Amino acid sequence: MEDIYILGNGNMAKAIAKGLTKFNFNVCFVLRNINRVGDDIKNYVLYDNFDIENKICILCFKPYNLEEVANKFIGKCAKIIISPCAGVKLDDLKVMNAKFYARIMPNIAAEFNKSCTTYVLSDENNCLKDIALSIINALGNAIKCDSDKEIDLATAINGCAPAFLAVVAEAIANGGLSIGLKNEKSYELTRALFSSFESLINNNHPAIIKENVCSPAGISIKGVNKLEEYGIRNAFIKAIKESAT
Ligand SMILES: NC(=O)c1ccc[n+]([C@@H]2O[C@H](COP(=O)([O-])OP(=O)(O)OC[C@H]3O[C@@H](n4cnc5c(N)ncnc54)[C@H](OP(=O)(O)O)[C@@H]3O)[C@@H](O)[C@H]2O)c1
Repeated sequence: MEDIYILGNGNMAKAIAKGLTKFNFNVCFVLRNINRVGDDIKNYVLYDNFDIENKICILCFKPYNLEEVANKFIGKCAKIIISPCAGVKLDDLKVMNAKFYARIMPNIAAEFNKSCTTYVLSDENNCLKDIALSIINALGNAIKCDSDKEIDLATAINGCAPAFLAVVAEAIANGGLSIGLKNEKSYELTRALFSSFESLINNNHPAIIKENVCSPAGISIKGVNKLEEYGIRNAFIKAIKESAT
């Protein structure tokens, strides 16, 4: 298996490391400071002792750190650079020399190999493409984008909408509490609901799911009508538009 160097040890770095380790990749964190080494970091090297030459590197620092990090490796050439840095375009990554680049936008469900990861590649014909894709696919569902612009737009869904769904989940559980269910039971039901919905949405158009759940004059369509009365559809469309600006 390939050795993969993750530059950084924050939330995204740890989520990616956990996901890749489950797929038997050898992961090593590249750190600035030895004091940042917690129990969850077994394999690490400090920047001062690290050389990117011919290495596979995943950039898990903040976008504005790119130039500073690139300056540490002038004259060196990585094998593959994979970057989840928000807003950093493929061309921007070239301040760090590499044979192949992938810009990705994962989410922290990468930890459970359930990220929804969008990606664009620097060169579709490069022989390193398959290695890069095996890494991206290990994080969960991988969705190819046509351009940097498309990845930016898609981020409103795969990057931001998990927060919207968290609001929905909390609201449903609070609804359960309001009608007299115990709080714990409400959350247990809500988690199971999201889990069963995964199979439904993967196999049906949302409109069909709605039709199949709602019977004539039944309780589900009453609930759906109430949501529509409060403008839920428009609220979500506006939220996606807002997150994409
Ligand atoms: N979190 C998410 O859900 C998410 C989703 C998609 C994409 N991303 C992207 O993932 C990247 C990391 O985000 P995060 O949420 O993991 O951030 P984070 O938890 O704040 O971690 C930031 C990391 O950057 C390191 N760092 C700070 N200053 C640095 C410098 N000057 N040089 C080198 N490293 C430096 C920090 O190291 P120290 O511990 O030494 O300070 C830390 O390991 C970002 O580019 C973000 O856009 C994150």
